[in-house]
Amino acid sequence: MTVPGHVLLVDDEPAFQRLGGAWLRGLGHTVTVAGSAEEAVARFRDGRPDLVLLDLSMPPRMDPLAGIELIAAFLPAPVVVLTGHAGHDMALRATAAGAWDFIAKPIEPDMLGFVVDRALRKAGLEREVRTLREQAAADDLGLVGRSDAIERLRAMVRRLGPSTVSVLVLGPTGTGKELVARALHSCSARAAGPFVPIHCGALPASLLESELFGHLKGSFTGAHRDQPGLIETAHRGTLLLDEVGEMPAAMQVKLLRFLQEGTFLPVGARAARRADVRVVAATHRDLEAMVADGSFREDLFYRLKGMVLRTPSLAERPGDIPLLAGLFLRRAMHGGAFAPDAVGWLAARPWPGNVRELRATVEAAAALAHPGREPVDAELLRFVSGETNEMAPSPRDAGGSLSQAIAELESRMLADALAAAGGNQSEAARTLGVSRVGLIKKMSRLGLR
Ligand SMILES: Nc1ncnc2c1ncn2[C@@H]1O[C@H](COP(=O)(O)OP(=O)(O)OP(=O)(O)O)[C@@H](O)[C@H]1O
Ligand SMILES: [Mg+2]
Repeated sequence: MTVPGHVLLVDDEPAFQRLGGAWLRGLGHTVTVAGSAEEAVARFRDGRPDLVLLDLSMPPRMDPLAGIELIAAFLPAPVVVLTGHAGHDMALRATAAGAWDFIAKPIEPDMLGFVVDRALRKAGLEREVRTLREQAAADDLGLVGRSDAIERLRAMVRRLGPSTVSVLVLGPTGTGKELVARALHSCSARAAGPFVPIHCGALPASLLESELFGHLKGSFTGAHRDQPGLIETAHRGTLLLDEVGEMPAAMQVKLLRFLQEGTFLPVGARAARRADVRVVAATHRDLEAMVADGSFREDLFYRLKGMVLRTPSLAERPGDIPLLAGLFLRRAMHGGAFAPDAVGWLAARPWPGNVRELRATVEAAAALAHPGREPVDAELLRFVSGETNEMAPSPRDAGGSLSQAIAELESRMLADALAAAGGNQSEAARTLGVSRVGLIKKMSRLGLR
């Protein structure tokens, strides 16, 4: 049974528009047509097709791969490309650029119906996953914790999420600033749109500008084609300016213009563009002090901090540590459990790297533990956190079955007894309480002679 959907056919050939359109309508789909990727984006942004069929053998008014990226940026629908017979290489590149599937022309009606049906089913599943995720996020918004500080934070996120207020998230490293930004996005009306994070300190000013605002072909050496920036990618969604305190001064002023007027200028462009983007900024630095010493623009600071949300350090909410650790352990290790001394050890640590460090420690311990056999104990945690360099010998080291563990213990006792007896087997046998022959048999079984 086919899943009927709204298919947008992007092809400049009137004959195929008619024929392909008729085939698909015959299968129960709604079909609209556009002559180019630009037209498709301009006309159908609001129509939200379920699937886009894009012909890559059209005369290239624009780079076909840029067409895919353009559609991917503005129409949240899967793209299936149609290629000419020599287009295998192009089809692979198209898939790398984000296309879901491809069909080579000339196209058989059955093949077209099959590929369209498969893509629509997959899109349906993806939608379902997204809805389920949204429902799950509606519970705790992904922000785990029962402490007052986290309850307050969640309540603020729920209230601010649907608004357009700009939010500045401040807090020490690893405390969930990015998670808060995602939560704001997921409880806003933009939840179905993109969430785009950018690390403002990772790039020098010139690259950051082109990354954020995009550039036109030829605007600098190596700019082989027009490239939309992350602001455009985040259209109808949320842009997280992460580590905004590290944004170079030259960029701060351009960002301010976008925040105030909603317009920006791609590198090499003359005409300003618009994008509908909600901006959330985050930093672990003291922005107020940076404003005072002149390294961060005061006007930008006030524009960003419509509301300030603070993420608490783990030290401020030690009661949440067992809850978080338990969650990370279960995610990393099916059937994993903590020994009682592990919980005490976890709760007493200072965790300067906060939740990120806690998570990494628990995941490392899970990787070394044996699922279902022994709980993760304080000794293992001390070992993975670097507090001790060695784990005391335990059956865990034997790496497997009970018999391996016994063999390990036996050979250690035998070796010790022999060493104590200066290599005298009769004496070693006596200390071990076995006959000399029994000792020799054991030694050869364990590979000790
Ligand atoms: N309240 C929380 N519940 C569940 N997971 C959390 C929570 N807070 C943080 N985490 C987890 O801790 C890790 C770090 O979180 P995140 O990247 O949001 O921190 P950050 O404050 O942005 O850190 P940095 O300042 O270093 O960028 C992530 O894996 C995140 O999922
Ligand atoms: Mg972060």
